[in-house]
Amino acid sequence: MSEVKKDWYKELVVYQIWPRSFCDSDGDGIGDLKGIYSKLDYLKDLGVNAIWFSPLYPTPNADYGYDIADYRNINPEYGTLDDFKMVLEGAHERGMKVIMDLVVNHTSDEHEWFKESLKGEDNPYHDYYFWRKGKDKKPPNNWLSTFEGGAWEYNEDLDKYYLHVFAKKQPDLNMDNPKVREEVKDIMRFWLDMGVDGFREDVITFISKAEGLPNGFPLPAATGIEHYKKGPHLDEYLKEFREDVIDKYDCFVVAEGPMMTTSFALPYITEGPNKTLDMMFHFQHMEADCMVTDWVKVPFSLKKMKGAFSKWQYKLHNKGWNALYIENHDHPRIINRYGSLDYRVESGKMLAAMYMLQCGTPFIYQGQEIGMTNVNLTRLDEFKDVLTFNNHNLFKKLGYNEEKFVNHANKVSRETARSPVQWNAEENAGFTTGKPWFNICDNYKEVNVEAAENDPDSILHFYRKLIKFKKENKVAIYGKYKEYYPNSSSLYVYERVLNNEKLLVICSFKENSVKFKAPAGYDLSKGELIFNNYNDNKIVNNGFVTKPYEVRVYKF
Ligand code: GLC
Repeated sequence: MSEVKKDWYKELVVYQIWPRSFCDSDGDGIGDLKGIYSKLDYLKDLGVNAIWFSPLYPTPNADYGYDIADYRNINPEYGTLDDFKMVLEGAHERGMKVIMDLVVNHTSDEHEWFKESLKGEDNPYHDYYFWRKGKDKKPPNNWLSTFEGGAWEYNEDLDKYYLHVFAKKQPDLNMDNPKVREEVKDIMRFWLDMGVDGFREDVITFISKAEGLPNGFPLPAATGIEHYKKGPHLDEYLKEFREDVIDKYDCFVVAEGPMMTTSFALPYITEGPNKTLDMMFHFQHMEADCMVTDWVKVPFSLKKMKGAFSKWQYKLHNKGWNALYIENHDHPRIINRYGSLDYRVESGKMLAAMYMLQCGTPFIYQGQEIGMTNVNLTRLDEFKDVLTFNNHNLFKKLGYNEEKFVNHANKVSRETARSPVQWNAEENAGFTTGKPWFNICDNYKEVNVEAAENDPDSILHFYRKLIKFKKENKVAIYGKYKEYYPNSSSLYVYERVLNNEKLLVICSFKENSVKFKAPAGYDLSKGELIFNNYNDNKIVNNGFVTKPYEVRVYKF
């Protein structure tokens, strides 16, 4: 059996911090770098060996940091560059790598480059963006933005439109301009020279737009996405970033690719001289209870979820490396979606083992490790996210009144996962001494880090054990994956094999009991039970009848 190529970034367990809601040190209700610094020991004890920071840069917060106004500084709400250096050093001292979010598909409209570009065609920054004349008093093409109506915004002084495939305040950068690419490389060098260990590249697969910006397919809604989801120069630009910068440092990049498939991803992530990205975040396993977007719900299909995971496991084997996640700042909490609120602890543990023991680098989103659930908002004005507001306009047209919309948004909006981390049972869950910028989840008295520390059966302790195991056992990192019973709509069963070591992971996604029988060749009584979420672990006839959301992991 050929061996999977080893690399340090493949042996990481990464923790994602969405800074605004992590920990506030100064009582202004907004998370900050000193707050993060105060929790570095917590992260070290959790066992993670890397941190990914969602954007920390100055921003008008149209998309909470994904609209960057200055790539070389820190949002004053979060602190200063010196505070960042302190956090970076503190993380390194504790054996944790640090990766930054690199958002270069677009800037904020408050970035200097954009302000300069507004000065007209003669300004050297004008061509940093897509400024185009309209056609018959209409925008240059029929593209729609993901966040807000049409993808073009008109500027009267220039009598031109600029392109924004996300919010109006996120003008797209014209990556075809070599100067823009030089800027991107300089930004990368700036952070790498400071000592950061890599990047999570935001919607990086969108950076090349089709020549001439042709109209999108007109029905049912013209998004135009087919003209930039994998544009003509994507390969070339990623190669340039790789060769000119990334390859010159000991760092790694994980890309985010909407509508990503294995065949799309493989050319970029396959080991060898042409590799431009180390890992790819895709969305396929996050679509087992929705269609196209989280906002269109369908009943959860375990088969769909398993199919997506397995496809990536099989297709990437010995070729590329998987990025594993079940939560981030763009999706509702996983227990609300694929687990059960009635079995929060049991399903939280099961879901953790289910994804972390697959082949790939696991990412854990803040609060996931204590089983945080969706925040429940009661009024429209408590929501904060541009995407929610856009969808409110759309759902109004479908006849949703405010109450119905709020109920729906509480289940599907990404901001349900952006409520402050629950540190203890005190006021504001110990997140801030001031007024939190966003609502805190009602269950914080019961679900919080302090309570979890004191409960040996908590999800937190389960994560600790799992992270330690994942880091220390090569079979959990590099072992070959094989799924059993792919047609089961109740159980997810897979093995990992490396040399003479084997793991068998058995996960029930059901509240009712399900019969499990070990696959051929396995004798459960010979295995060592290394993870489980119930005390009673009897084996009957080389199998067992599952308890709600039961997980068992046997090592052979
Ligand atoms: C990515 C980010 C998301 C952001 C969008 C636009 O998908 O994860 O939070 O809104 O890009 O930058």
